[in-house]
Parts: sequence; C-alpha cells; structure tokens
Amino acid sequence: MTAAEEFAPAKINLTLHVTGQRADGYHLLDSLVVFADIGDRLWLTPAAQMALDVGGRFADGVPRDNRNLVWRAAELSGQRLRIRLEKNLPHGAGIGGGSSDAAAVLRFCGAPEHAPSLGADVPVCLSPLPQRMQGIGEELAPVSVPPCHLLLVNPGVDLPTPEVFKALEQREHAGMGPLPRWPSAAEFTAWLAAQRNDLEPAACRLAPVIGAVLAQLGDAPVARMSGSGATCFGLYENADLARAAARRIAAANPGWWVQPAAMLSGALPAAG
Ligand code: C5P
Repeated sequence: MTAAEEFAPAKINLTLHVTGQRADGYHLLDSLVVFADIGDRLWLTPAAQMALDVGGRFADGVPRDNRNLVWRAAELSGQRLRIRLEKNLPHGAGIGGGSSDAAAVLRFCGAPEHAPSLGADVPVCLSPLPQRMQGIGEELAPVSVPPCHLLLVNPGVDLPTPEVFKALEQREHAGMGPLPRWPSAAEFTAWLAAQRNDLEPAACRLAPVIGAVLAQLGDAPVARMSGSGATCFGLYENADLARAAARRIAAANPGWWVQPAAMLSGALPAAG
C-alpha cells in the first residue's frame, strides 16, 4: 500500500426527520444527505507505528491518539499509518467532520465493513454522493438531486450530539415518504422547504444562537440546521447569491465560520 491523499468532504443533512427510537436508545432517522466540495484533508502513509499529526484552522481540541476516529479506523482495518489530518471543518458541528475523516481512512484501507462500529454517521460518509439515510444511519440508498449551491454557517458553539437527542420533546415524527423526482432545482427547493430537521428546536433551546444563524440565512429559499447542529445551511439559486450572502453574514458576525460550498455530484475532487 502506498501513501495517498484523501479528501473528507463536509456532510450536510438537507433533511433530518426523527421517526422513532430503538430499545438501545438510538434514534431512527430519515435523512437526505449530500456532501460539499469543502472538507478536511488527510495524508496517509503506511508506517511501522501509528502516528497522528493534526493541523489546519480547527486543529485545536482534536485528539492526537486513539480517541480520534481516524486512529480507530486504521486499527480496526489492521493497518498502521502515519496520518496527517488537516482540519478545515469545525468539529462537533453537525457536518460529519470526524465521521468523514474516519470514512476516508476506511476507503484508503479498503475496509468499509468497519464503518458502522465507528459511529452511526460513518457509513453514509463512505460515498460522496447524495443518499437517503434511514434506520440509525445504516440503511442507505442513492438519490438523484439537482445541483445545490449552499452556504454553511457555524456560530462557534460546540453542541454534543447525545445532548441534542436527549433534549428532544417528541421522538416520533413522520418520515419523508416516497421521494418524488425533481426535474428542476425550483421543484427540489419547493419540496425541501416543506421538510424538516427535527433536531432543530431542541438544538435551538440548548444554543439559542442557532436561531440567530437561521435568521441571518433568512433570504435563502431554504435555511435549516444540519445534523445535530450547530452548523446551518442556506440553499441558494446560484453560487453568486450564496457568495453575496456569505459576505453579508461574515461582515456582520466576525467570529462565525461562513463558507459557501457546492454539492458534490460525482467523484471526490482529485487530490492535489
Ligand atoms: O453513533 P455515534 O457515536 O456517532 O452517535 C453519537 C450519539 O448520538 C449516540 O450516542 C446517541 O446518543 C446519538 N444518536 C442517536 N441516534 C442516531 C445517531 C446518534 O441517538 N441515529
């Protein structure tokens, strides 16, 4: 096995319906998941000993040992790797940073079967294509989605996923039902606007700043939280509108992470 660079794209839950709860406490979900052309980068080299070096804007607070999912992904795959991880995505942020990093290591090691044991969100991150995710995250089906222009906004609060699920007032919501075909972006947007993220009210109670983020994204036809938050996305008609909103929101909120992104609709961007 030779060294390689892997891209770990941001995961965005365009919808996230909570449809029930299993006896073991995990929640049943129905979610439309897409990936963005922004993400973390990993450089992976087979080595005599495991080693992990973390850099990038969001390196602070990222574990450099076997508490990190990338380390555990390599170990489960039976590989020893020297890993350099460039954290470009905020963590604990609802956009799958750690899960996508772990999936990138499993892709490199050719060991996708270990994904479920690393976390409910890791299986969906094995492929960068739009997918419908059900069960607790293990039931996956490809979906054809028109190209999306997104703006991702994170206000810098770290929201632990278990706390958000625990704060749910209701655990049995309707799922998405049969997915229609979307011949145009406008029809997709209209459908999406009628869907939900059922974790959003609970997350907003725990971190009221999320409501402020959603208000700032109010000019987008769809503005919603991703995953368990706190990152929210706006869906725009084109990249120029997303960039204009990014400039406005970043200028008014200097501490926030504000990042326009396009949806991936094919292979992962070439490493370079
Ligand atoms: O599987 P993972 O460790 O990533 O999940 C983190 C936590 O999120 C779980 O311990 C659980 O509290 C919650 N969770 C859930 N239902 C899911 C996924 C995650 O309750 N489908």
